[in-house]
Amino acid sequence: MAAETSAKQTLLDRIHDRTAVVGVIGLGYVGLPLAMEFAKAGFHVIGYDVSERVVSRLMSGESHIQDVPSAEVARFVRSGAFEATTDESRLHEADGISIAVPTPLSKTRDPDMSYVISATEAASRQAHSGMVIVLESTTYPGTTREILVPLLEKRGFTVGEDVFVAFSPERVDPGNPVYVTKNTPKVVGGITAACTELATALYQSCIDKIVSVSSAEAAELTKLLENTFRSVNIGLVNEMAIVCDKLGIDVWEVIDAAGTKPFGFMKFTPGPGIGGHCIPLDPHYLAWKMRTLNYKTRFIDPHYLAWKMRTLNYKTRFIDLASEINSQMPAYVVEKVAHALNDERKAVNGSTILVLGVAYKRDIDDLRESPALDVIRLLEEQGATVTFHDPHVPRIREDGHVRERVELTDERLATADAVVIVTDHRAVDYQRVMDNATLIVDTRNATNALVRTKARVVSLATVRPMPEVIEA
Ligand SMILES: NC(=O)c1ccc[n+]([C@@H]2O[C@H](COP(=O)([O-])OP(=O)(O)OC[C@H]3O[C@@H](n4cnc5c(N)ncnc54)[C@H](O)[C@@H]3O)[C@@H](O)[C@H]2O)c1
Repeated sequence: MAAETSAKQTLLDRIHDRTAVVGVIGLGYVGLPLAMEFAKAGFHVIGYDVSERVVSRLMSGESHIQDVPSAEVARFVRSGAFEATTDESRLHEADGISIAVPTPLSKTRDPDMSYVISATEAASRQAHSGMVIVLESTTYPGTTREILVPLLEKRGFTVGEDVFVAFSPERVDPGNPVYVTKNTPKVVGGITAACTELATALYQSCIDKIVSVSSAEAAELTKLLENTFRSVNIGLVNEMAIVCDKLGIDVWEVIDAAGTKPFGFMKFTPGPGIGGHCIPLDPHYLAWKMRTLNYKTRFIDPHYLAWKMRTLNYKTRFIDLASEINSQMPAYVVEKVAHALNDERKAVNGSTILVLGVAYKRDIDDLRESPALDVIRLLEEQGATVTFHDPHVPRIREDGHVRERVELTDERLATADAVVIVTDHRAVDYQRVMDNATLIVDTRNATNALVRTKARVVSLATVRPMPEVIEA
């Protein structure tokens, strides 16, 4: 207890007077903005990444993350407040470490924990008494206790006494001009109360509002609830689009009308499917956790394992259903394109199709899990010649194949058999698209408010006149 008190108090003092050094492991969409916030708060920040490319770009003052301006990185590199390195041993200088490495799914849709394990191994090799380590990567409940704690204890530390461990999920929303890392409330849950207190103190120094919860598991599950909530609600409106199509009703009109209810309804919009590192993947971490007995039993003490064996083996039906509907949306879009071309006595095979917007959502450059990639692949499988334009994405690299974007010209719009709006970036002039294209398949309702000129527009749900009621 004495050890806890002194290690804890020293760390609290160092955080308070900003003499603490902060290490961030993984300098991507999550880690880099977080590193910048710590630097702004007055800490010396050491960013550690395994990628030489990422590190050398950052050290030359260039940001690879759209939401972080290069000028900001350059300023902190120049002042010495931030340095990026591939040298793991530099983490030993840190008093607080945030881990923000990828948590993808394996080919069998199981959690791939290899990045978290190797980042934690690096942190534990460099750990010292009086260090707080916080995992930020989205993951299943139990990860922090089952993976981080044993790796630290293997090195002789006692978590909660000489080192402190917590989970704090990142909620960054790339491209969101209002909510950024600093003003998005941050949930923190530690392995012990002291761990929560220290992680809270660290984050309080640079984030406006911290929400402490009772355990690391509660914090882990909070993030999964948030992303499952989105996945399920997107799945619901996507199904509503299919329902509206069959009924001949305008799904956008219905959603807008429902959105006028001032309580009890939250507006979600349908689209070509879900993308990014979070929504398509994270709910599967929970689904996996609930259907399996355990990840690595060797990490777990017998009481904890017994508790889990009683509670798991459960099928998360909402997650599975939402994923099924959302993952079918690219095929649904392609079906829409085929029908629309058919109306013009054309086949997909041999048609020239321009895909407009390939990033997974509006105004960002992230292609990860983007449904546009599936739409392109499915159209090509059916024999279409597909090109793409996206103001934020100059090229698509997939399976060793590089596809360059085409410029958006009046002629290209006019000669395409169909223009498919997959992502509705604000930088595109959709009126120009309407004025030049012959057929638009608009999966995002980007053309709704525009003047109907040349193009025939097909939406996710085809609107038909209501049938007359025939009296018997
Ligand atoms: N991108 C988002 O919008 C978002 C939002 C919330 C949460 N998250 C979660 O945050 C985590 C990180 O996601 P991201 O989007 O920042 O990933 P990213 O791919 O943008 O960045 C990860 C970085 O970690 C580095 N890295 C990988 N293994 C490493 C190791 N062992 N040691 C040091 N560096 C290593 C990579 O080189 C890369 O630069 C994931 O769990 C993700 O689910 C992401």
